[in-house]
Amino acid sequence: MGLQSNVGVNGQRLWDSLMEMAKIGSTPKGGVCRLALTDLDKQGRDLFVSWCKAAGCSIRVDRMGNIFARRAGRDDSLPPVMMGSHLDSQPTGGRFDGVYGVLAGLEVVRSLNDLGYQTEAPIEVAVWTNEEGSRFAPAMVASGVFAGVFDVDYGLSRADTEGRTMGQELARIGYAGSEQVGKRPVGAYFEAHIEQGPILEAEGKTIGVVTDAQGQRWYEITLIGQEAHAGPTPMSRRRDALLGASRIVQEVNRIGLARAPFACATVGMVQVHPNSRNVIPGRVFLTVDFRHPDDAVLAGMDRELRDFVARMAAESRLEAEFKQIWHVAPIKFDPRCVAAVRKATGELGYSNRDMVSGAGHDACYLAKAAPTSMIFVPCVDGISHNEIEDATPEWIEAGCNVLLRAAVATADAIEAGGLGG
Ligand code: GLV
Ligand code: MN
Ligand code: MN
Repeated sequence: MGLQSNVGVNGQRLWDSLMEMAKIGSTPKGGVCRLALTDLDKQGRDLFVSWCKAAGCSIRVDRMGNIFARRAGRDDSLPPVMMGSHLDSQPTGGRFDGVYGVLAGLEVVRSLNDLGYQTEAPIEVAVWTNEEGSRFAPAMVASGVFAGVFDVDYGLSRADTEGRTMGQELARIGYAGSEQVGKRPVGAYFEAHIEQGPILEAEGKTIGVVTDAQGQRWYEITLIGQEAHAGPTPMSRRRDALLGASRIVQEVNRIGLARAPFACATVGMVQVHPNSRNVIPGRVFLTVDFRHPDDAVLAGMDRELRDFVARMAAESRLEAEFKQIWHVAPIKFDPRCVAAVRKATGELGYSNRDMVSGAGHDACYLAKAAPTSMIFVPCVDGISHNEIEDATPEWIEAGCNVLLRAAVATADAIEAGGLGG
């Protein structure tokens, strides 16, 4: 059947829903703090579920707390076309990262209701638990379990810095569902997201057709020196763990700069013990985030960091515990899903360009379980993971129109065996 060329989503309704969701965990600077599995995350989930029920969807929650809102297809036995993203945020997060992909999926459902249009295959809107990896590391853990990259026990046992696990927190907020995680066919997955970088806006383009996502490695390093008095201890006798950590910060930055322009290298978290102004720090915990589109380059960055930490620790008389806790290889999205996004963008006449995602997304894991691609829209000044993160209502509507067309065309073309070639 197919959508007529003049139909689109209700951009105002989508914008209003985004602003309503942004009230949950709103910060004074206009952003959002809705960390995974907190009471605020529960409130956001509850609001999403109530909207989906009002739109006629059935709801299922799996053991990782992933939520699936389903709109029946004409042939409900076909594998669903999924759309989605995440509702959790960074501690100083914005109103669009993640929540846009979720509510754009809901807006597709609402628009199909308005049009009285039933897709051939069912469609589902997914909320993936703990995408950010801020409270519980690693990122994208629950979509990773869904895709079979991690097992459920690994996912549920991830702990925050206070030792509370995802399993405990899911039970506490009432989202420890009973569905098994994954292990069911998904016809295709589409994730709409703000770009989180500056390219689309700088080039005046409305849509990013996402073909690839870069790889990532995350590390946790603990340096142990010796706590001692800041006054009587001569400089030459000190074993200062924070001094060692500062050398790692410099080296991480050097490793990234040496592979410009594509490498990214960040120390984002440092915990100093005992964190007292007149005690030489005896123990420091720090995290490293490395990214590059080429896995071989990422492996080279890994070797340089390991060598440096071992050499620096020996020279500084520190003990170093070095752990790589996460590795996601670069992803190539499915050519059929990329083509569906490109076709929808072309039909709508939006300016566009192909893009490699710099950020990690649940789509990176879904790509291992189903044909997958992403749709990017610009964000103001390319700023994200910041309370001032912003986007225009026009960009937000445009990306959702592309999502609607790509998802419907795919859901109407799916066969029992999945997406044809
Ligand atoms: C997810 O937000 C990431 O770190 O890319
Ligand atoms: Mn995100
Ligand atoms: Mn994010």
